[in-house]
Amino acid sequence: MNITICFERLDPAPWVLGLQQAFPEAAVSAWAPGAPPADHAIVWAPPQRFIDEQTLGGQTCDGHKGLQTLFNIGAGVDALLQLKLPPSLKVVRLDDAGMSVQMAEFVCHAVIRHFREFDGYDADTAAGKWSYRKPRSRADFAVGVMGLGVLGERVAKALQVFEFPVNGYSRSAKDLPGIRCFGGAQGLPEFLAATRVLVNLMPLTPETENILNKTTLSQLQPGAYVINVARGKHLVEEDLLALIDSGHLAGATLDVFRTEPLPAEHPFWRHPKITVTPHTSARTLREESIAQIVGKIQALQRGEPINGVVDHQRGY
Ligand code: NAP
Ligand code: GLV
Repeated sequence: MNITICFERLDPAPWVLGLQQAFPEAAVSAWAPGAPPADHAIVWAPPQRFIDEQTLGGQTCDGHKGLQTLFNIGAGVDALLQLKLPPSLKVVRLDDAGMSVQMAEFVCHAVIRHFREFDGYDADTAAGKWSYRKPRSRADFAVGVMGLGVLGERVAKALQVFEFPVNGYSRSAKDLPGIRCFGGAQGLPEFLAATRVLVNLMPLTPETENILNKTTLSQLQPGAYVINVARGKHLVEEDLLALIDSGHLAGATLDVFRTEPLPAEHPFWRHPKITVTPHTSARTLREESIAQIVGKIQALQRGEPINGVVDHQRGY
């Protein structure tokens, strides 16, 4: 069996080595233009040429079926689905692989930093000031997690440990202990109205692009805080800025942006109520990812179903 690796802006060498060690019976190599089709590919933002050559434009050649499975080394497949892919090509996303605990850490940190006003304390102590802030009521800080998938559910459960009221929003209705769940477009206004801190963990799809806009963000409770850890294109940036400047929103922690890296002149960098992080809330972990992908290839070889297969139509 042949496995090819094709990454944009990332050295494939440690992945080739790690995968070869984890799966000695496979022939693993980094893709080069013109290489014959492999059975499985591990990719991040591959060029269209890679897809065309590896899938043989849907034609068979010397009895080879062309690529069977495309493993994405991230949870989000929005960039991959921008390419022209044969509908029969199985696209598989990373399914946690060490990301959910990182995401839970990041979001809890951001929620707690805002709720406990730690930025204010930092500014005071940096100025040598011993200050006191009146404790705020946790009951007034319901956290709403948009997207209750692999990452969102883990984040929601982590927030419950700190006794925040937690709301959840997803496409299909969910029933999670202690979490007030809202489902589908009809549930969105009630979810927003019940939410003081919004955490976005939805995939970027045609349905969710620009979903955080003036209309939706205005429906959050006054003084609401926004944490976007999913994709930059979910958020209409000028609407966020206008609502922070009008006082309806207290601020935001943003890990993802419409343009990455965030351009030096972007107003988010210097806004006093916005915290910027460089798309780092949940990183792909190589060893965990390789172990997951090898396990899935072996399951496919045995004819067993696997988790994380992307629905091309739904977009996630
Ligand atoms: P997932 O398991 O596929 O979960 C997606 C969730 O979003 C599901 O609950 C789904 O609803 C919900 N959803 C999808 N479309 C919706 C819509 N139109 N309205 C309401 N809910 C909708 O994905 P995941 O593994 O949790 O990852 C989520 C996203 O996080 C990824 O797509 C990626 O963009 C982002 N991410 C960011 C980082 C980072 O470092 N910043 C790292 C990893 C991932 P159903 O349950 O009903 O299907
Ligand atoms: C990172 O953003 C991912 O989608 O895994």
